[in-house]
Amino acid sequence: MAQLNIALGQRSYDILVEAGTLDRISDHLSPWIKRGRTLWISDSQVARHHWPKIEAQLASAGIAAHLHIVPAGEASKSWAELARIIDWLLEKGVERSDTIFALGGGMIGDLTGFAASIVKRGCEFVQIPTTLLAQVDSSVGGKTAINTAAGKNLVGTFHQPRFVLIDPLVLATLPPREMRAGYAEIVKYGLIDDAPFFDWCETHGQNVLARQASSLKQAIVTSVAAKARIVGEDERETKDRRALLNLGHTFGHALEADTGFGDRLLHGEAVGTGMVLALRYSARRGLCAPSDADRLAAHLTACNMPTTLAAAGVTADGAALVDHMRHDKKMTGGTLPFLLLRGIGQTFVCHDVDLDDVAQFLDQEHRRAAE
Ligand code: GLY
Repeated sequence: MAQLNIALGQRSYDILVEAGTLDRISDHLSPWIKRGRTLWISDSQVARHHWPKIEAQLASAGIAAHLHIVPAGEASKSWAELARIIDWLLEKGVERSDTIFALGGGMIGDLTGFAASIVKRGCEFVQIPTTLLAQVDSSVGGKTAINTAAGKNLVGTFHQPRFVLIDPLVLATLPPREMRAGYAEIVKYGLIDDAPFFDWCETHGQNVLARQASSLKQAIVTSVAAKARIVGEDERETKDRRALLNLGHTFGHALEADTGFGDRLLHGEAVGTGMVLALRYSARRGLCAPSDADRLAAHLTACNMPTTLAAAGVTADGAALVDHMRHDKKMTGGTLPFLLLRGIGQTFVCHDVDLDDVAQFLDQEHRRAAE
């Protein structure tokens, strides 16, 4: 068992990582259960796998369990599904002192967290993440959001969960491609500021993807500890500290926008390719050696992940990709902060990136892949 804590004063909370916790869920959640009943939000796929077991345990503990099911998929991070959740919570008589339970991947966590932050002017919520990406990234840190016609995650709040319960055994039913997408976010923590962890990933990454228990747990615990530390230092991303967690995301979001934010390129796959591009762009600026980018690309390729624009299915030219970046919510004063690297484990926020230079770099990347 590993119990981590995120230090945020009155908003501090624990993150428990333990295999098999879903089999003892009523014990773990008892501090958050009020009035003998619980309100749950999940998606159609996750509920099919996990809800019968959870409901049966709660029933045998004498706790009523009410479930609202959202259609699986990123399209549910919408005003319409948010409104349905709020209406359902109000219909169930949600009170301010109630805790809402989010059972699912990043979509469910973001949507439930947002609903919890606004219903009755704010209720508590608990995250029970069921994808690798949600376990190592989105369930921790309190970012909540929905997507709108103007872009991804443009509407949301900072609202910390009261507790995060991570059971690595739930990943047994996760498709391998989703495991790989989540793994990119694990590698990210090594690249940010932990070069020995990147070395560890090179040695143990295949075991993580194969769901070997000790490697998987170590990867999750190391990632969550890094995220908890960084969020504890800069909860609202105002000090260039939490922004480090966006490594690979500015390039990645442009790739996702070009491929339709869907199954053609998963978020984690876009982040993986985006991190390679961040290293290649850093090398172009003389900040690190090209071999650092080659090293990351070799590791992700060995893990069967895309590492080039072509492999990511991206055809747009540099100008079009940079145009997607211009819609990023971090855009300020006509430019974007970029996460660049002085080497593996040495990420920093660079505020003087010329977007025209990025466009030229991306065109060069297209040509490099074609050679
Ligand atoms: N996923 C980036 C963050 O939570 O800040």
